[in-house]
Amino acid sequence: MKEIFERRSIRKYTDEPISAEHEEKLLRAAMQAPSAGNEQPWEFIVVRNKETMEKMTEGHPYSTPLKGAALAMVVCGDVNKQKFNPYPYWVQDCSAAIQNLLLEAQHLGLGAVWMGVHPVKEREDELIRLFGLPEGIIPLAMLAFGHPAQTVDPIDRYLPERVHKEQW
Ligand SMILES: Cc1cc2nc3c(=O)[nH]c(=O)nc-3n(C[C@H](O)[C@H](O)[C@H](O)COP(=O)(O)O)c2cc1C
Repeated sequence: MKEIFERRSIRKYTDEPISAEHEEKLLRAAMQAPSAGNEQPWEFIVVRNKETMEKMTEGHPYSTPLKGAALAMVVCGDVNKQKFNPYPYWVQDCSAAIQNLLLEAQHLGLGAVWMGVHPVKEREDELIRLFGLPEGIIPLAMLAFGHPAQTVDPIDRYLPERVHKEQW
């Protein structure tokens, strides 16, 4: 619960690398997410190569955190793994996985930020081309990770007026 309330997007990182152990912990947390009918339609591209990260920024206008990241991920959905066609639950499944990544990063003392890709077609196409994604694999988001080089204060976003008891 502490991680939920203290997590903020971190966009500046030190040069310290992220260990293989932490990388696996992040991915284990991601794949522990709930999914519709337990379809688990996620696929993860892990990037440590700085040149590739630089290329990832080219098709996305709000992705500068990647320039200083120690590790990046592209979270993709595999539409072929959908159980409830034509309903695209993969977006919700993969979003739950992304939130787990952010919370695990917070737990490990790492900084992270979620950068949206799908449903912006141009951003999707850039990543499909860059990583040679097969048919039916759709990039939902990019994430940048690193040891934090900034602190961002926790913020209370609770709005009681957004709660509708029994009826709207
Ligand atoms: C679907 C989605 C897309 C986002 N895209 C970007 C992005 O492209 N670039 C970025 O720097 N942050 C992006 N963010 C992070 C948000 O800006 C951030 O979560 C929001 O401002 C709240 O701040 P916090 O994460 O510090 O609590 C995205 C977040 C979500 C959930």
